[in-house]
This record gives sequence, structure tokens and C-alpha cells, in this order.
Amino acid sequence: MKIGIDVIKFYTARYYLEANDLAQSRDVDSGKYFKGLGIKKISVMPPDEDIITMAANAGKEVLRYVDINKVDMLLFATESGVDQSKSSGMWVHKLLNLPETCRVVELKQACYSATAAIRMAFAMVYQNPESKIMVIASDNARYELNSPGEPTQGCGAVAMIISTNPRVLSLQNKAGVYAKDAMDFWRPNYRTEPFVNGGYSIELYLKALSESWKQYSLISGNLFDQHYKFCYHSPFPKMAEKAHAHLFKENNNHEIDKSLLKTEISGSLKYGRIIGNTYTASLYICLISLLENTKENLAGKIIGLYSYGSGCIGEFFSVVIEAGYKEVISAELHDKLLNTRQRVSISQYEAYHNFSDKMVEGNHNIPHYEDGQFRLFGFKDHMRLYEELE
Ligand code: COA
Repeated sequence: MKIGIDVIKFYTARYYLEANDLAQSRDVDSGKYFKGLGIKKISVMPPDEDIITMAANAGKEVLRYVDINKVDMLLFATESGVDQSKSSGMWVHKLLNLPETCRVVELKQACYSATAAIRMAFAMVYQNPESKIMVIASDNARYELNSPGEPTQGCGAVAMIISTNPRVLSLQNKAGVYAKDAMDFWRPNYRTEPFVNGGYSIELYLKALSESWKQYSLISGNLFDQHYKFCYHSPFPKMAEKAHAHLFKENNNHEIDKSLLKTEISGSLKYGRIIGNTYTASLYICLISLLENTKENLAGKIIGLYSYGSGCIGEFFSVVIEAGYKEVISAELHDKLLNTRQRVSISQYEAYHNFSDKMVEGNHNIPHYEDGQFRLFGFKDHMRLYEELE
């Protein structure tokens, strides 16, 4: 029985910051952002956008392709949760009119939890082949102003349906995992931005890649060369390039050629270069980017995927692209979404960044900015209030 991703779409906020503008304002050589990190633009959330509105926008697109009444579970992966008790998925459940018989839960393990959600969905669909499970990964990658992480911010959501007879890709059941308690990136409940040990997080990312790959290749029997392309969790695009060069060298005992590096991963990085980091959604935006920006037919090809979440856990797994995938992907929709964003100045970006500090008031309306189909219009007695736009 084939189980995998039947439909997959993403959404990102309607504003962006040019990496060049940020470099100038922070007195940094723009080469560091462009070449050193691989970033051109980052998506910026206005005050009336959040992980829930982004998730609902991505989910709405996905529901154009499936019978909503068959969706019996929503798994919401995020590390930007807005409530300690209530799952962000419950608001999405309402905004998308999902059935009352649909289970809802939120999952967390830094940037990794969407992969865990997919694994869980796989097992649930295996038990009940009629089941259609919506997995949403939605995050606001937020660092302190003027910090080293600042150019690696971004925001976005991916929604997908996991089912039998998938139209996009089948999941292969053999995965390699490496987990070890570590403090490379963490955000205590009283903080709006994380503590980051950047260099250490890169070291752990690569260590977890090596270890999870070893286990994956051992139990799957798949060799490096059998993977046609690769997608990596990309906190910044250069990280994916470093990761692929690292894995190639471990498997081939010599450095990767630049053109091969480009052939094997550059399609997956096109969207991330102009969206920025999206934490849980990042790997899956890379996957969509690969599917929509690779000219040759990927049907039947094996793609290797690496998911990493600080703290830390790495998982390497693979998928096989299905014959009809081109009929359900949306390059035009996503290009339009990205190319119609409004550019913000540094002062606008900083004002949006600082706005969340005012949310503790619990009773206020939020001005209307450029949005997708949903917006957070305010708070009443500390309850979040959303609306769907015409
Ligand atoms: N032109 C071209 N490249 C330049 C440059 C310039 N003028 N100035 C610096 N660079 C390069 C550096 O050589 C380095 O490349 P390398 O890693 O291949 O050597 C890269 O730009 C980054 O420079 P660095 O000095 O290491 O940056 P930093 O210490 O300010 O921060 C991170 C980089 C990634 C650690 C930081 O952005 C961060 O903490 N990010 C959040 C955590 C994260 O994303 N972790 C990743 C794993 S999850």
C-alpha cells in the first residue's frame, strides 16, 4: 500500500525585507548575507498575521484538492505556539470548517516536528487506509534585532494531506534517526526570541546528519547515488549546501564538484532564498521548491530528505515521486504569492517586529495590513479573534 503526500502547498506573509537593506542598516558587508548565508529576501509578518492565519491560508489551498469531509486529523507542527494549552490547530479547524469528527493536536520539537507529524500520519493511515490527515507546519522564525540570527529570519506555512494512493509522492518507510539532548537553540516560555549558540547548532546539525544517514542507509540499503536529488532543512540556504557537501564527502571520500552540488540541491533552495527560515516548514518548502523548479520529470525518482530540530534531533528519510505529481503542484500560485509581496523599509520591519510586545494587553484591535484570506483582527478578554476576508 502506497502512503504519502497527496497534495502540498505553502503560504508566506505579504511583506518582505531585502537582505541588502538589512546589511546596510546593520553595517555588514552584503556579501555575508548573499554569499555567506545564501539569503536574498526574508518574509516579514505584519501584526495581523500569525502562524494560524498562515496555516489557514496554506490549508485552504490544499482543501481545493480533497474532500474536506474525509479529513479526520489535523497535526499542527510549530515552535512559535501562541498558547500554552490550546492547540493552534483548533483555530485553523474553525477557519477551514474542518469536520467535527477531525482530531486536532499541536506538536513541538524545534524545526523537526513536521517530520514527526508525517511519521505519525503515516502510521494512522496505515491503520485506516480511508483516512486523510492534514499536516500543517507553520512558524515565524524570529531572532533578536541586531543579532547574528537576524538575517536568517522569515515566516511561512506548509499544509499537506497524507493519504493512501498519494498523487505527489510516496514515503519510504525506512528512516534513520539521531537524538541527543543539547542546548544549541532554545526559547524559554517567558521569551519572545530564542537563545542561540549558532556555531554549535551547525556542528550538531552536521553530526545528526552523519548519524541519521548512516542508520538510514544501513536499514534501507539505499546508497548515496541512488538519490536523484536531496532536500535539507534550511535555516539559511548555505546550510543546505554545507550539509550536502558534508554528506557527499562522507560517502565519496572527496569534495563535491560545484556543478554537481548545484544540480542536486539548487532547485530546492529557490523559494527559501527569498522567504528565509520557516523552522518546521523549511524542509517542506524546499521540497515544494524542488518539485516546482525542476524542469526534468521527477516521476519515479528517489529524493533524500533531512530534517533537523535543535535540542536536538535529526532524521534522514526518502520519498519516491509519483507519476501524476505535476497535476497537483502549483508553481504559478506560489510564484504569484512571492512576487506580489510588498517591500518593507527597515523602520517598518522593526515596527512589525516590536508589535508583538503589545499583545499582553489582551483587549485591542489590530490595524488592517495586506493579508491573505485570513487575518487576526484583535484580542478580547485575552481571546484571539480571526476573520476570513472576502
Ligand atoms: N562575503 C562573503 N562571505 C562572508 C562575508 C563576506 N563579506 N563575511 C562572512 N562571510 C561568510 C563566513 O565566512 C561564513 O561562511 P562559512 O560558514 O562558510 O565560513 C558565513 O558568511 C557566516 O559568517 P559567520 O561569521 O559564521 O556568521 P555569524 O557568526 O554572524 O552567524 C549563524 C552565522 C548561522 C551562526 C547565525 O546566523 C545564527 O546564529 N543563525 C541562527 C541559528 C542557525 O541558523 N543555525 C543553523 C543550524 S539549525
